[in-house]
Amino acid sequence: MDHFLYQGGNLHAEDVPLAEIAAAVGTPFYVYSTATLERHFRLFDEALDGMDHLVCYAMKAASNVAILKTLAALGAGMDVVSGGEYMRAKAAGVPGERIVFSGVGKTRDEMRLALEGGIRQFNVESEPEMEVLSAVAVELGLRAPITVRVNPDVDAKTHAKIATGKSENKFGIPIARAREVYRLAAGLPGLEVIGIDVHIGSQLTDLEPFRQAYLKLAELTEILRADGLDIRRLDLGGGLGIPYARGNEAPPLPSAYGAMVQETLGHLGCEIEIEPGRLIAGNAGLMVSEVIYVKSGEGRDFLILDAAMNDLIRPAMYDAWHDIVPLIEPEAGAEQRPYDIVGPVCESGDTFAKQRMMPQLSAGDLVAFRSAGAYGAVMASEYNTRPLIPEVLVNGQEFAVIRARPSFDEMINRDTIPEWL
Ligand code: LLP
Repeated sequence: MDHFLYQGGNLHAEDVPLAEIAAAVGTPFYVYSTATLERHFRLFDEALDGMDHLVCYAMKAASNVAILKTLAALGAGMDVVSGGEYMRAKAAGVPGERIVFSGVGKTRDEMRLALEGGIRQFNVESEPEMEVLSAVAVELGLRAPITVRVNPDVDAKTHAKIATGKSENKFGIPIARAREVYRLAAGLPGLEVIGIDVHIGSQLTDLEPFRQAYLKLAELTEILRADGLDIRRLDLGGGLGIPYARGNEAPPLPSAYGAMVQETLGHLGCEIEIEPGRLIAGNAGLMVSEVIYVKSGEGRDFLILDAAMNDLIRPAMYDAWHDIVPLIEPEAGAEQRPYDIVGPVCESGDTFAKQRMMPQLSAGDLVAFRSAGAYGAVMASEYNTRPLIPEVLVNGQEFAVIRARPSFDEMINRDTIPEWL
């Protein structure tokens, strides 16, 4: 469920007509709904009711500080994967004890930053990383709380580029080697082993792979405890998928996910952490764009938009489907026709949808890409020297620009010219 509905024939974000935002900030832009962000966070929080837990929002999905502040105000923790994300969490006022540091390649500088600023835990992914983290912590006279990310070798049944829990993936350590790796960790002076971490992939539409992974985690918890380790926290990663196409079957709800967590892991008495990103932000955001031209090609019509692959890369990168709807509600039963919906960038990959059935559209019409709140703005680039598009946050009847569109000068003046030129 989201808060982007037609009211009086015009698509709104909560109580604000999107056309009004378009008139104020220009197109293309991203827009987020506070109510949807809050609703999705609460769904997860309530799904884990009855278990000691923390929902750590995977901010890689959408990391604008205003979004982080919205979630932090509800008690969210943050899952960060870089020094930059750590600083964003801090800028949003999230205390270190609610920030988890994930990622397969943390640098010494990033470790130092988080240790000095305060951190809930590092999810470490390899033996060399453990040794470096221990050394950095010792230098600072600290002990770094850690979990080890294990790779449970389950098939997440999602797009290959976002599956992470198979043995051939670069993530975590093979679960079969967990005991020896934990033994090494326990012997390192700068580390305090507190738990286990797992994340098997993103946009999972079935609970079964999660269940398999969590059963393996439960077994490992018992084994490590028998080895004398105080395993008291389980980080279960993120990955629960969202419905991208209306009318298709929706993935399981957070409540079903929570019940499965309770069933597989509840008896262990561990504190549970989860790291959802997409489910919190995905359907809380749209990208709005204007049709620049309608071009008749051979046997097909193209809708050429002012948004391009640099603004929303998911279709080009993962063959992702995003529903695309006009801002003006089509009449019931209005005739539909197929369009190839493309951006202005000079490569054929700059295609959002092929032969998509849409009501008839003309230059100047506005359209919205649904489910664009996660992995949208954060993955944008300035390819073709196209400015990063603005982000807008709606709250009831109000809206605010939360990241402005840079001017051409601002973009160009970031380049510096060597003195010999
Ligand atoms: N935790 C870890 C360790 C992760 O690597 C990820 C996502 C998450 C949590 C959050 O997963 P989520 O709940 O959002 O599925 N750019 C891709 C998705 C990449 C996901 C990477 N890791 C896309 O646009 O589909």
